[in-house]
Formats: sequence, structure tokens, C-alpha cells
Amino acid sequence: MTPKRKIYIETYGCQMNFSDSEIVGSLVLGSGYETTANLGEADVILINTCSIRDHAEKRVRQRLREFSALKKKRPGMIIGVLGCMAERLKDQLLKEEPSVDMIIGPDAYRDIPDLIAAVEGGQKAVNVMLSLEETYADIQPVRLGTNGVTAFLSIMRGCENYCAYCVVPFTRGKERSRDPESILREAGDLFQKGYREVTLLGQNVNSYTWNADDLTVNFARLIARVAGVDPSLRVRFATSHPRDLSDELIRVIASTPNICRSVHLPVQSGSNRILGLMNRKYTREWYMNRIEALRAHIPDCSISTDIIAGFCSETEEDHRETLSLMRWAAFDYTFMFKYSERPGTLAASKLPDDVPDPVKSRRLEEVIQLQQTLSLESNQKDIGKIVEVLAEGRSRRSEHHLFGRSSQNKVVVFPAGDIHPGEYLRVKITACTPATLMGEVLPAERPG
Ligand code: 5AD
Ligand code: SF4
Repeated sequence: MTPKRKIYIETYGCQMNFSDSEIVGSLVLGSGYETTANLGEADVILINTCSIRDHAEKRVRQRLREFSALKKKRPGMIIGVLGCMAERLKDQLLKEEPSVDMIIGPDAYRDIPDLIAAVEGGQKAVNVMLSLEETYADIQPVRLGTNGVTAFLSIMRGCENYCAYCVVPFTRGKERSRDPESILREAGDLFQKGYREVTLLGQNVNSYTWNADDLTVNFARLIARVAGVDPSLRVRFATSHPRDLSDELIRVIASTPNICRSVHLPVQSGSNRILGLMNRKYTREWYMNRIEALRAHIPDCSISTDIIAGFCSETEEDHRETLSLMRWAAFDYTFMFKYSERPGTLAASKLPDDVPDPVKSRRLEEVIQLQQTLSLESNQKDIGKIVEVLAEGRSRRSEHHLFGRSSQNKVVVFPAGDIHPGEYLRVKITACTPATLMGEVLPAERPG
């Protein structure tokens, strides 16, 4: 028997990309390959890439140079670029990066075995066709680098929001939702295998919609059904667009204990003028109303966001409105970015990237500093509380501690004792940093 050839997959970018890599892993298994976590023994390297900011692309280019050096020592090794950079740059990337053999867009992963065969036949291979239907619904992902407790579950693909700054509608194509039955099967299968948390993924999960014969399944109904798989399966979701965060969804979260009390709601800016230019299709007031609705129905809900500093024409006044919205919302956590112009987007063609880089950096720093304070205040409020934690694995800092997450998605560190990943614990919070809660494990509550 010839040994199986080995594929090494490295992933950059969002959770969706990590989820896609697990689909790719599954797709190559069937055709005489196996995945390896060891670059040193790879026959094929697949790098799943991100285009969201220039910096993300630069990191991938740097990595490709390292792979190229490796290939010189091991001729015959195949290098494939997957994901958003593949889709954005297409065969231009073959010219710019001579060591690359294959370019494969996010909807073309089923073609990977054939593309590898073409490369083995001496050609370069490209498939960047986007699809209106592909959801990989029938593919059972292999879990790469898994902790055996938490898993991503992709429920829809693509995006049609066309935010002015964003490359995603161009790299991931039209929105399409996956058959709910296949989602429920995958969630049930994960639970059977011992997983205790699934994160439903999509570029905009709230626009999930599936038309069955006589009924439409929207995201609120879908997540209620996934939560119904088992009360001890936690369900999270990412990412929501504020315009589509419905009252129905808020009610479903409020009334379902195993849907986590944590909503990621990217605001991007606190200025109505900038939100308009960004084509976000909501106002500051609309966003505030959504937060009020969340807080009214789910008082213990944590709220996180994304903010872009220095978007086209942003003034000090606009920036101050972002800071004041952050204070008002008291975000528990924020992903913060400097605006990076992306070729092909609406902003790149219509709006000059005119905020000088040092100004962008200073505004970003102010956003970061404010968030540090808000995160610390949020965590300090938890001291003395008892929270339910799902244990995930060893703490990075200490082998005598484990870490897990609260329903609010906060990282909680606690003494390892004889606890195993996958167990639910009651933890009393005793200390914190802006990033982490520390606590002690309480005995399990006895019924009655
Ligand atoms: N520049 C900076 N940040 C961006 N994001 C998306 N596009 C850009 C860009 N061109 C940020 C947004 C989005 C997150 C995933 O990345 O905040 O919500
Ligand atoms: Fe990056 Fe966006 Fe593509 Fe995810 S969808 S890999 S964040 S460009």
C-alpha cells in the first residue's frame, strides 16, 4: 500500500476561514490524502488567506516566502493559496508569487483533489469560480486543532451588505444559507462526540433564511432549534449586522438558557455621517436602540463590537462620537482596527483615504485605551459573582490552572483540580485583569 500523501493546512483570518479549513480537510481525506499538523512532512501546503486589511495580506506574503524557501529544499512540494486572497487576486498571484502552484477561491474547494492532480501533471491550477449555491452542507468537517469541547458550525456563506470599506462581498460572493436539517445533524453529531459548545457562523447570521415547503426558517427559529439539540449544548453565533438584529431573536435568546448571553454587534463608528459613508444602513440612534432592547430583555448579556479608526474623511468630532458611543454602550470587548483601503471596494473607488496615518494611529490608540478601561470595569463588576463556566483546556500561563468561558464569553481561569475539559462548573470570581477573570470552583449544586 502506498502511504497517504500529507496535506498541511495553515489558516489566517476570521472564524469562517478556520471553519472552511475544516471543510477542506474533509474534502481531501476522501482522495488519498491525510492532513498533518507538521509542516516538515507536508507534500502539499494549503494556506487559507484573508484580505480584510492590507496587513493581513502582507503576513500571508511573508509566509509564502518562507514556504518558497522550503520548496527549494523539497522540490515536488505543492503550494496552494485558498480563501479571500485567492479570490481577490486570482491568477495575478501566480505571477507575483512564483512558488505558488494553485489558486483556489472559497467556493471551489471540492475541486482541490483535481487541481492537485493537474499540478502533479505539470500545470499551474486556478479555480476562483464563485457559486450561488455552494454551502458544503453535505461535508462533515474534520476538526483541526480541536479542544474537543467547542466547534464552529458554518450556517451561511457570502455577504451582500456592501459596506463601503469591506472586501468580503467580492471575495465570498452572494449570500446563501445552508439547509437547516444538515445544520441540526452536524450539531447533534458534535454533541454526541462530546462537544459542548457550537458557534453558528456566517458573515451576517441574522440574514439566514431557508424556505421549506410551507415555512420559512429564519435565524431566530434556526438557533432555537439548534439549542434544542440538548440543554447542555451551548450555542453562540457570529456575526450580526445591527440592522438585522430582530426583536424575535432577542426574545429567543432571552428565553433559551443555553444560548449564550453574549452578542457581537459591530458598530464601526459612532458618527452618523461616517456610518452613512460606510453604507452601514443604520444610525447611531438605531444602534443604541438595539443595545437598549438587548439590555432590557437580557440584562446579563455581554456586548462586544468592532470599530474602525480613521475611515475616509473622519474628523476629530466624528472620532469623539465613536468614543462617546463606546462609553455609553460600555462594551465588554472591542476588536479595533485602523482603516485600510481595499482595492475594488466602494470606498476605494469613491472616497479618498485622507486621514493621515499618524492620526489614524493616535485615534486607534485612544479607542484601545478607552476599551481597556471599559473591559476592566466590566470585569470588576463580576468580582463576587458566581458564573457558569464550560472548561476548555489548560491555561496558557500555568499548568496548574484550566481556563473556560462564561456564558458572557469571558475567559475564566481557575485551579485545575481533577476537572476535565467539557465539564460545566460553578466558579466564584475573585480577581480580574482587563482580559481575564480568575476564580475558585464551587461544589456542584445538589438538586433540591
Ligand atoms: N479596514 C479596517 N478594518 C476593516 N474591517 C473590515 N474591513 C476593513 C478595512 N478595510 C473590520 C470591520 C469588520 C471586521 C471584521 O474588520 O470592523 O467588522
Ligand atoms: Fe478575512 Fe473577511 Fe475573508 Fe474572513 S471573510 S478571511 S475576515 S476577508
